Amino acid sequence: MRILLTGANGFIGSHMLDRLSLSDSDITILLRHTSDTSFIEGHLSRARICYGSLESPAALREAMDGVEVVIHCAAKTKAIGRREFYAVNAGGTLNLVEACNAHSRSVARLVFLSSLAVSGPGSPESPVTEDARPRPVSAYGRSKLLAERHIRQRSRVPYTILRPAAVYGPRDRDFYGIFEAIRRGFVPLAGTGAQPLSLIYVTDLVEAVSKVIGCARCERNTYHLAHPVPSTQRDFFCRIAQAMGAAAVPLPMPVLALYAVCLARDLWSRITSRPSMMNLDKIAEFRASGWVCATDRAAEDFGFSAGTSLGEGIGLTLAWYEQNGWL
Ligand SMILES: NC(=O)c1ccc[n+]([C@@H]2O[C@H](COP(=O)([O-])OP(=O)(O)OC[C@H]3O[C@@H](n4cnc5c(N)ncnc54)[C@H](OP(=O)(O)O)[C@@H]3O)[C@@H](O)[C@H]2O)c1
Repeated sequence: MRILLTGANGFIGSHMLDRLSLSDSDITILLRHTSDTSFIEGHLSRARICYGSLESPAALREAMDGVEVVIHCAAKTKAIGRREFYAVNAGGTLNLVEACNAHSRSVARLVFLSSLAVSGPGSPESPVTEDARPRPVSAYGRSKLLAERHIRQRSRVPYTILRPAAVYGPRDRDFYGIFEAIRRGFVPLAGTGAQPLSLIYVTDLVEAVSKVIGCARCERNTYHLAHPVPSTQRDFFCRIAQAMGAAAVPLPMPVLALYAVCLARDLWSRITSRPSMMNLDKIAEFRASGWVCATDRAAEDFGFSAGTSLGEGIGLTLAWYEQNGWL
């Protein structure tokens, strides 16, 4: 099978590339000349590399030449200002859809990595379902919703939309900040940390993506992907501390403190031109009642159930950070 993977050098994309390389697929990856390829060095000699960005329709059309499956992983997950989210996540996805349409004779499936941020909040008592009206609370979530709309309205190629919950695992730089804080002796919590969370370990996620590719029932369908047992922020972070053997003190951050930190990080991002995960756009996500989603549709349609427990996933992630000198 000939597969195009966008975002291949990123956190999730690099694991996707590891997974795809286990099959005998011909893999094309879309990279930029500025892309950090440290996670995928071992694949560079075997994959076909196309240089270009989501903003370049010509590069996307060239990358798609002869391709049968497109896995669209590239996105801005943090940005300086909402315009960047919309330009890359929505505008870039629209360019990709047009390129798929131009190659609709060969491209048989477009798999899009969207996000639970599109569905909006949900609680353990009332997990959000894929059919619920989308209620994104951040510019990131709204830009991914617009990307989904472009696909649904414009794609002439059969597609599947995946909405993963928060993803953690080796190579992740976002939750890594929590591991670092815990090593310094405190467990930062948004509010009391009671916010319920769905989570998914990264290799479970890429397993789901590979199952979806050949699933006829998944065409034109949308799926949440998460471990069926939700956690809370506090439980997740305290388990990390436990795995690290760290005597870290919980540091609940009231809304005003959270706002101050996010404002300061936002200003610093603008000065340094380096976006941060802590930003004003995130406040509404931190303040939501919970981020819990229903996971039964993926189980019913393509037999997917995330198998890595939180304890196991944290252990594997911690081991990777330690082995690679991050901690
Ligand atoms: N991480 C999560 O918790 C999570 C949860 C739900 C959904 N998702 C979705 O999963 C996907 C991957 O996320 P991730 O966490 O792996 O993010 P990541 O590590 O930040 O990787 C993002 C990838 O997108 C590429 N990219 C960004 N802007 C681009 C552009 N204009 N043109 C071409 N490529 C571009 C990056 O390439 P460069 O290195 O060149 O910038 C990188 O390869 C995203 O679609 C995200 O929305 C993530």
